[in-house]
Amino acid sequence: MNFKQSYTAESIQAFLVSHLAEVLGVETAEIDVHENLENYGLDSAQAMIIISKLEELLGFKPSPILLWHYPNIAALSQRLSEESSDNCQVKDVNLGANFSVNFAPPFLDLAAEAVLDPTIQPVGNTVFISHPKNIFLTGGTGYLGAFIIKELLEVSEAILYCLVRASNVEEGKSKLENNLQQYGIWQDKYSHRIIPIIGDLSQPHLGINAEQFQNLAANIDAIYHSAALLNYVYPYSALKTANVLGTQEVLRLACQTKVKPFHYVSSVAVFESSAYAGKLVKEDDDFHDWEGIFLGYSQTKWVAEKLVKIAGSRGLPITIYRPPLISGDSKTGICNTHDFINLMIKGCLQMGSFPDVDYMLDMSPVDYVSKSVVYLSRQKTSVGKAFHLQHPQPASLISLVDWVRSFGFSLKMIPYQEWQAELINNVTSPDNPLYTLRPFLLERWSDEQITIPDLYLQARRPIISCEKTLEALKGSLIVCPPIDSQLLMTYTSYLVQTGFLTLV
Ligand SMILES: NC(=O)c1ccc[n+]([C@@H]2O[C@H](COP(=O)([O-])OP(=O)(O)OC[C@H]3O[C@@H](n4cnc5c(N)ncnc54)[C@H](OP(=O)(O)O)[C@@H]3O)[C@@H](O)[C@H]2O)c1
Repeated sequence: MNFKQSYTAESIQAFLVSHLAEVLGVETAEIDVHENLENYGLDSAQAMIIISKLEELLGFKPSPILLWHYPNIAALSQRLSEESSDNCQVKDVNLGANFSVNFAPPFLDLAAEAVLDPTIQPVGNTVFISHPKNIFLTGGTGYLGAFIIKELLEVSEAILYCLVRASNVEEGKSKLENNLQQYGIWQDKYSHRIIPIIGDLSQPHLGINAEQFQNLAANIDAIYHSAALLNYVYPYSALKTANVLGTQEVLRLACQTKVKPFHYVSSVAVFESSAYAGKLVKEDDDFHDWEGIFLGYSQTKWVAEKLVKIAGSRGLPITIYRPPLISGDSKTGICNTHDFINLMIKGCLQMGSFPDVDYMLDMSPVDYVSKSVVYLSRQKTSVGKAFHLQHPQPASLISLVDWVRSFGFSLKMIPYQEWQAELINNVTSPDNPLYTLRPFLLERWSDEQITIPDLYLQARRPIISCEKTLEALKGSLIVCPPIDSQLLMTYTSYLVQTGFLTLV
């Protein structure tokens, strides 16, 4: 047991004000202790700098997640002073570092969060339209959204009205164009079919003015909702507005004036509750259990899909698509280099080690996911159903590591505890992409006080069945490419060609 000095809330507050001002390059007088820290535009790296300074002061490592549960300096200082006087710190000899282990996030009842505004009621009759002329799409500036746009442009003649966060239409248009360019999708001939709609999921009515919202409500024939804030570090409270309330606003649009089929990109994460561990879950199984979903992002996906289901029970034609981790394009290897798999590979290569964990790599190529979403969305029989875009034959994580090694990269497999200790002791700056993921990789949860990666070990995960999805895709010529040497070669070549990975 270590001994440490205790600090008052006032002294911690003064310390935080001075360091926040320093990080932001402003005067201390400009810092309002009641202002939400998010409003200072603090990014993950800046937050980590403040956490490190606090660690020096307090003599123990405060959970970075505290920043999001106690989002202003006044509340955070109060919480830290309690922690500082609790004499709660233990030295974890296995990890070789000090961690505050008594952090308990506020109790969250996800079932109670799943309440859809009662005024959201589908108006009028539902008519199935297999070839909508006007489509409203969210997430078009993101990864999967770009590939859904590609597919919709190729298989239909629809005009796509894309929700974009931007200050004006020109900026919105170029944001969409740049994103499509980045994924090798953009063609000038598509320009007139991609219309930016400036807005924001986290605003009432999507931040769209009443007249434009009404016009969209009257003229749109179908909706694809792919946007979400993907962040493995933030808690539910920081993601709720965009992911849960944003979904509610898109459902409002779907129901207003005329009924529009609603295609929702969910996630297999809705089955992350410990109740499903080791159990086979099928596409039409209910997912009422939520206890034991710890990741804030997964919690928002659970609640958001519940809202979509409620809208379905009120008569909205809904179809739900649940992808696993989405990997690169199977033909070109083009991928989102900021996603978890790629950051993990790059970060582990920098560390020179990879955690030896029993984990199946259930990743599906983005082209398989987008083609399936669009094909299934055009089938009348899909209405009211959920689909699992799970890879039919997941590979073990070890096979991925072997493949990376076969390219000449040096990577040793070490026990998970040892790897965690290396992460704590050696990954101490944002130069390693795992630095900002440290809260996700190290934070301890549940009565067992284990980390999120521990919670995702194979034995604790559900077995996601995709039998009904494969059945529905029969006759479409859409096949999920195997995770074999050809696919991994395509992926690695792309990452090396673009300079994301450097051969030694
Ligand atoms: N990637 C995966 O491995 C994976 C796995 C399972 C499920 N999913 C689901 O698939 C969907 C797409 O994921 P992705 O990988 O394409 O994510 P992504 O690349 O991070 O894209 C997210 C999109 O959502 C938009 N967005 C976020 N907050 C918004 C807001 N407040 N208002 C308007 N738009 C907002 C982003 O717009 P900006 O450009 O303005 O940020 C971006 O277009 C998500 O629903 C996700 O939950 C993804």
